[in-house]
Amino acid sequence: MRPTVIASEARYLAGNTLQPASQRHANRLNRHESRSHTMTDNNHHRSTIEVMESHVTVRRFTDEPITHDLLETLIQAGTRASTSSNMQGYTIISVTVPEHKKRLAALCADQQQIHESAAFLLFCADLHRLELCAQKHDVAYDDLGNTESFITAIVDVALVMENVAVAAESVGLGMCMIGSLRNFPFDVREVLGLPRYVVPVSGVCLGWPAEEHDSKPRLPLDAVWHRERYRDDEDLKRSIDAYDGIMAAFNDSQGRHPDNPRWSKVMCDVLDKMAQRTEIGRFAQEQGFNSQ
Ligand SMILES: Cc1cc2nc3c(=O)[nH]c(=O)nc-3n(C[C@H](O)[C@H](O)[C@H](O)COP(=O)(O)O)c2cc1C
Repeated sequence: MRPTVIASEARYLAGNTLQPASQRHANRLNRHESRSHTMTDNNHHRSTIEVMESHVTVRRFTDEPITHDLLETLIQAGTRASTSSNMQGYTIISVTVPEHKKRLAALCADQQQIHESAAFLLFCADLHRLELCAQKHDVAYDDLGNTESFITAIVDVALVMENVAVAAESVGLGMCMIGSLRNFPFDVREVLGLPRYVVPVSGVCLGWPAEEHDSKPRLPLDAVWHRERYRDDEDLKRSIDAYDGIMAAFNDSQGRHPDNPRWSKVMCDVLDKMAQRTEIGRFAQEQGFNSQ
């Protein structure tokens, strides 16, 4: 099936201007109520920027399936992402059988959204195909998984993953990325039958949303958009202070996190947690990556 959403979205973009957030929210609800779950019948395509601006992670899904055609359309659209030297250093493994999702969920902190998802997509960095290319031409490499090729494959994965996510959101699907896929990579390898030079990077749960959220604020643009040269630390500290205030107000407004820790403090916990995810480095090396 052709990715018709792309063509109709392009037409939509050509004739539309951006709307305020309240209008976008109304559109989102409207689209939810009237969506048909098919690409061709959906008359509520939004511009790409509207889709991106209204992104929220969705962690509760209805039990409605995603058709094979729609999944294929999303993945096909996703693979239109730019890719370094046309290398396409990624593989996407879709898992829809509940028993298979259950096995994988058990390796990903048993997150409920994996069980509820209509499709759980596993995005892997993959140089195995290139190894086969080399074999085809009788070329042997000692360092196929060097740091440069590892970074290149990870960037390719991130691009295709976000492309699939945006395509999914453009048709009203909800999605949640799953970094916990890197918790137990050796077990994931066994479950998925991953060959050498393939490393699971992140999962993406897809499904029809069963919850509505306000968008989580992002850092002030100045914190991430530096002009001409890197900002000095005093500027950055002001942005961090500002964002601590913004996130505290957001958490209050959502009635979540009663102790409402500052974002900057939450990031210290995130850094601690990342330091504890040690298997993935060893695993990547064992898979042939990042050996020097
Ligand atoms: C690579 C990646 C991995 C993620 N892993 C998880 C996860 O395992 N569980 C989860 O609930 N959310 C996960 N998230 C979602 C983030 O928590 C979420 O994007 C972030 O808090 C910002 O919220 P928002 O997407 O609603 O704006 C992940 C996001 C990314 C990009």
